[in-house]
Parts: sequence; C-alpha cells; structure tokens
Amino acid sequence: MKILRAKDYADMSRKAANIISAQVILKPDCVLGLATGSTPIGTYQQLIKWYEKGDLDFSQVSTYNLDEYRGLTHDDPQSYHYFMRENLFDHVNIDQANTHVPDGSNPDADAACAEYDTIVAAAGYPDLQLLGIGNNGHIGFNEPDDHFSKGTHCVDLTESTIQANSRLFDRIEDVPRQAYTMGTQTIMSARAILVIANGEAKAQAVHDMCYGPITPSCPASILQLHANCVVIADEAALALCPAE
Ligand code: F6R
Repeated sequence: MKILRAKDYADMSRKAANIISAQVILKPDCVLGLATGSTPIGTYQQLIKWYEKGDLDFSQVSTYNLDEYRGLTHDDPQSYHYFMRENLFDHVNIDQANTHVPDGSNPDADAACAEYDTIVAAAGYPDLQLLGIGNNGHIGFNEPDDHFSKGTHCVDLTESTIQANSRLFDRIEDVPRQAYTMGTQTIMSARAILVIANGEAKAQAVHDMCYGPITPSCPASILQLHANCVVIADEAALALCPAE
C-alpha cells in the first residue's frame, strides 16, 4: 500500500485525477471502477476540465460503480445513477451504454446482485478501482462485519452510514436503509486500487485501513493485501498516521 500525502482536498483531487488520466491514456478502452459520495467530486471535476481541454478521451472507456441504494429509480436525484450522470458522465464523451451501476430499482435483490456480478466479471474486472472510505472504514457499502463479503450483495446500512449520508437528503427518514454493493472480493479483483480520503472525520478509518489489523470490522483494512493499492489523503485524514 502506497500512501501519498496531499496538502488539501484540491491537491488530493488533482493527484487522483492524474492517476485516472494516466490509466485512460495508457489504455483507452480501460475498465474503471467508480465511486460516488463527496470525496470524488473534485476528482471528477478535474477529469472533466482535462477532457474539455482535449487531453482525455473517454469514448472507449467502460465504468462499473460500486453501489446503489435499493429502491431508488435511475432518475431519482438521490440515486447514484443520477449522481454519476450529474458529476461525470454527462460532461465527457463516454458512451453511456458502457456505464454501469447496480440496479437499485430492481426489488429482487438476488437477481439484481447476480446480474451485476455477471457483468463485472464479463468485463474482466476494473483496471483501476476508485474508492472513498466511510467514517467506519466501509468500502463500497461493505459495512463492518464479522467476515469479508464476496460478490455483489444487499446490505443493511449501519446507523453511522445513514447519519453520514443524511446530509444529502432533506430528512434522515428519507435515507434508504439498504443498498446493493460490490463485495470485498470483487473490489480486490481490480488490478489497481486508488483510495481517496479527506477531512478529520476520516482520520481513524484511514489509520485503521493503513496501519490497523486486517479485520472485517474495518473492511478497508483488507486493502493492505492488495498488490497495487495507492491511498491519497489530505493532512486532516492522515492526522492519526505516522508522518513517514
Ligand atoms: C460510494 C461508496 C462509499 C463512499 C464512502 C465515503 O459509492 O462506495 O463507500 O465512498 O461512504 O463517502 P464520502 O465520500 O461522501 O465521504
């Protein structure tokens, strides 16, 4: 695991966008695993700027998102389908047919998750997987548990995640209680992983991911076993980590 120190959110976003750009330039038909949430918004904005300058071409790229709330339609402004269109897909020349997000609108959890596993496997798994990290150490929506998950599955969101995500909803009651998420094993199947984190609320999770024991009570800690994982975090998120 390589840890890169960023000065602030803007620096973290630029560094992350540089790594994603390099992937797209080196392999124009690459498979990207993508994340939603507040953390990657600056990274996506930087990628859009470089696309507008003519430095990036997404026409052959395909993408697979980590997760989606269960019960939201693709057009629901709170859905991750909508988030990805708003924050990236509608602003670059990606073929939207090549973008994939678990189908939260399918009430049949087993069918929706099995279908997603099939298409991620058929794509050969991401060349590069972008991850944020939850305050409780979750990756995707793989919440702290007594075992590491495998494929895509339906999860009950923890109270801490519901609280953290309620900032994006009018009322906490509106936050969906379940989500479909790629499993930990699927995430680990990516050939390269890029984790981004900023802000003091992430400090404990970032410490435990990088320096704690490898345990499903901090799902991100399994990334210590990945052969090609880069963490880019700002000073606040690295506050509890050794200076190195
Ligand atoms: C989002 C996802 C989550 C977030 C995490 C951090 O697709 O998989 O694991 O990356 O909850 O969220 P933010 O960036 O909003 O702090």
